[in-house]
Amino acid sequence: MTNLVIFASGNGSNFQAIIDATSKGDLHAQIKGLICDHKDAYCITRAQNHQIPCVLFNRKDYESKSDMDEAILNQCRLWDADWLILAGYMRLLSSVLIQSYPQRIINIHPSLLPQYKGKDALGQALAAHETTLGVSIHYVDEGMDTGSLIAQYPFQIKGDEDRSLIEEKLHQLEHKIYPLVIQQLIKEKP
Ligand code: GAR
Repeated sequence: MTNLVIFASGNGSNFQAIIDATSKGDLHAQIKGLICDHKDAYCITRAQNHQIPCVLFNRKDYESKSDMDEAILNQCRLWDADWLILAGYMRLLSSVLIQSYPQRIINIHPSLLPQYKGKDALGQALAAHETTLGVSIHYVDEGMDTGSLIAQYPFQIKGDEDRSLIEEKLHQLEHKIYPLVIQQLIKEKP
């Protein structure tokens, strides 16, 4: 069985979609653990609800970012991770992690990259009056949402749609495609 470690910083609805896909048997993988960097994040509760181990990493406990990522790497090795899955993990990874899992770290981002990198990509796209929005899944490198693309899914909105409705559409799309893409990747490279 392929071992996944999920990284999340917040709500964790994509984490939940991955949990649900493994429970349903749509995703043939085992979630070994959750790495989280915010003690109050709701993704921690989701992990507890499903008896998934969670380890919290607080940046203030480490002298440098790479020290923290070294500790995260040790934890991923303890869990015997095959793939690291970023699901709303709002932190750049340092080379210690990237080089230890070459082409085995992926991220989901709410824009049609290379457009609208970084935080609040949806807000950036709406501010630019885009009517074609989308979601990208890409390999992670040391840059901000710069790794090579794996898949992109555009969707259309009307100019006058409410942001909350658009967000709902975007999340529904993310929850559908992320487990599918992960399944495809691990089928090719368990
Ligand atoms: C998702 O929309 C994901 O695409 C985005 O954060 C959200 C997390 O939601 N990720 C990024 O912006 C990465 N640059 P969730 O915590 O409910 O899964």
